[in-house]
Amino acid sequence: MSHRRPHSLMLLGVLCLQSCLWSAWPVLVTAQDKPIVPPARQKYMGRTIAQTMGYGGAPWLIRETREQEERPSEVMRQLGLKPGMVVCDMGCGNGFYSLLMARQVAPEGKVLAVDIQPEMLHLLELRCRDKGIQNVEPIQGTLIDPKLPEDTVDLLLMVDVYHEFSHPQQMLAGIRKSLKAKGRVALLEYRAEDRSVPIKPLHKMSKRQILKEYKANGFRLVEQYDGLPWQHLMFFERDPDWRPPAFSTPADQ
Ligand SMILES: C[S@@+](CC[C@H](N)C(=O)[O-])C[C@H]1O[C@@H](n2cnc3c(N)ncnc32)[C@H](O)[C@@H]1O
Repeated sequence: MSHRRPHSLMLLGVLCLQSCLWSAWPVLVTAQDKPIVPPARQKYMGRTIAQTMGYGGAPWLIRETREQEERPSEVMRQLGLKPGMVVCDMGCGNGFYSLLMARQVAPEGKVLAVDIQPEMLHLLELRCRDKGIQNVEPIQGTLIDPKLPEDTVDLLLMVDVYHEFSHPQQMLAGIRKSLKAKGRVALLEYRAEDRSVPIKPLHKMSKRQILKEYKANGFRLVEQYDGLPWQHLMFFERDPDWRPPAFSTPADQ
C-alpha cells in the first residue's frame, strides 16, 4: 500500500496548523498578559530583512549633507502638513523628521514619535528640549506593536525604516489601525532599482516589492513622487475592500 496520501495529508495538516499559529501570533499572550513576540523573520515575501540601525548611528541621521543628498525640504513640501494635524514619525530615530513635522502641525497638532530603541527616544527628547519644541510625544513601540492609538493619525511617515521591520505584517496591522479613515502612510525607501544610490542593497527597496507587501497588508497606493535624489516617496491609504487572509501561506512568510 502506498504511504503517499496519508503522508501528504499529515504534512498538509502540519502546514495548516503552522500557518494558523503564525496568523494568531499577534494575539497570543502569556499568563502575565504579555504578548508573545514570534521569532524575527529573516525574509518577507522574497525580500531579506535588514538589521536595525543601532543608536550608535544617530549622528549620521542628522548629518549636514542630508539636505543635499535626500532633499528633506522637498519631502516636507510633498507631505502637505497643516496646523492641527496628528502625525506620526514611525521609526523616528533621534527625530530628524519629528522636529520638522512638529513645526508644521503646531500649535494644536502633534507628532507621535515611535521607536523601539529608548536611546533614540532619549536623543529625540534632548533635541526637542534644545529647540523648545513641545508637541512631540515619544512612544516606545515594540517589534510587533507600534503602540499607537486607533483611528487617530492623519499622516504616518516612515523614512528608511520599513525595510528593517522584523515583523512587517504585525507592524502594518498596527499602523493600519492607527490611521483615520482618510489617513495616509508616506513611505520613503532608498531606490533598489538605482545602482547609483550609494546605500547597501539590503537597505534599499524596489517599488515592485513595496507594492507587493503593502497590497498584501491592506493598503492601496494613492500617490507617488519621483523627484527625490535617492528615495521613492509613496503614499498609501487603507484599502476599504481588503480583508485579512484567514491563513497565511508559506509564500507570505
Ligand atoms: C535608519 S533609522 C531611520 C531614522 C529616521 N526615520 C530618520 O530617517 O532619521 C531606522 C529606525 O527605525 C527604528 N525601528 C526599527 N524597527 C522598528 C519598529 N518595529 N518599530 C519602531 N521603530 C523601529 C530603529 O530603531 C531606528 O531608529
